[in-house]
Amino acid sequence: MVEKNLDFRSDTVTWPTPEMREASYKAKLGDDVYRDDPTVNELEAIGAEIFGKEAGLFVTSGTQGNAVSVLAHTQRGDEIILEERSHIYVNEVGGLAVMGQLMARTIKGEKGWMRPDDVRAAIRADNIHYPRTSLVCVENTHNSAGGIALTPEQMKSNWDVAKENDLGLHLDGARIFNAAVALGVDVKKLAQYSDTIQICLSKGLSAPIGSMVVGPQDLMNSARKYRKMLGGGMRQAGIIAAPGIISLTKMVDRLADDHRNAKILAEGLKKLGIKVLNDVQTNMVYVDFSPIGWTAEDWNTACVKIGWKSRGRGTSTRLVTHYGIEEEDIKSFLDGMGKLIG
Ligand SMILES: Cc1ncc(COP(=O)(O)O)c(C=O)c1O
Repeated sequence: MVEKNLDFRSDTVTWPTPEMREASYKAKLGDDVYRDDPTVNELEAIGAEIFGKEAGLFVTSGTQGNAVSVLAHTQRGDEIILEERSHIYVNEVGGLAVMGQLMARTIKGEKGWMRPDDVRAAIRADNIHYPRTSLVCVENTHNSAGGIALTPEQMKSNWDVAKENDLGLHLDGARIFNAAVALGVDVKKLAQYSDTIQICLSKGLSAPIGSMVVGPQDLMNSARKYRKMLGGGMRQAGIIAAPGIISLTKMVDRLADDHRNAKILAEGLKKLGIKVLNDVQTNMVYVDFSPIGWTAEDWNTACVKIGWKSRGRGTSTRLVTHYGIEEEDIKSFLDGMGKLIG
């Protein structure tokens, strides 16, 4: 029986499963800075294996995973290419500028995908006046574009441009398993078009804390050092790595339920006169409630009345489906909303 978690704000709100809590309790521990924690070592090995990469690194969060990866790929003063609404550029507190002293060159994507010609055009020529371009960052699924899953072909198109120009490619794969499940492909098919990947365990995969980074050994060695510098050298971290092992081995297939529930939610909301703004491919539904004359306050109050958390802003919001929300909950949310809209 899944504990209900009627909260549409994000998939970061997910609680650990009973099996995860049990696994934390029983985890074999050691000092991970000395590489002595067998549970962390196991998680890192499993992660690397799943993505077909040489090595893995357990980090505290997605933001830290992206930071240590970007730092490992670059040198002070480099320029990196990112999609203009990417999480690394918009939502990671300017860490690339503060920690890496990096310049960001942004590209307007098409549903989160950067057209290869645009990436190519953004790469700096070898000229004494220019910074060096060293890295392309790709996000899959692309959060702000609506949880859009980039296909292996789209990933390859960016990879080819990066490699033709000797650039690294980092994948912000916070929700890469959502992409793989939605596209019906093995995650390795997406992973092959990246050097390093950041994967969140604490979103749809329901672990309470943490992300993984995977990639070639040399970049992971460097990322590990940066993680230490950023205060992410955790000690008996097996306590939090143990749920992550369950995330990677047991929580991936159920993402299909979240995707199905998001589609049911989107269709139901459309019937109530609410505008759905995105192409619902994974677990995110972006809506605009101005067609029914509601403000964010009306929306938020209505959600509270029927027992849900949601965070409207202006006239819109993002609704995310996840572990703890079942199909019957979506149906009762739509019934409740229907009554309030009248
Ligand atoms: C695409 C993407 N990347 C990275 C992150 C950062 O993850 P964290 O919140 O664990 O730092 C998020 C968080 O929502 C995200 O959506």
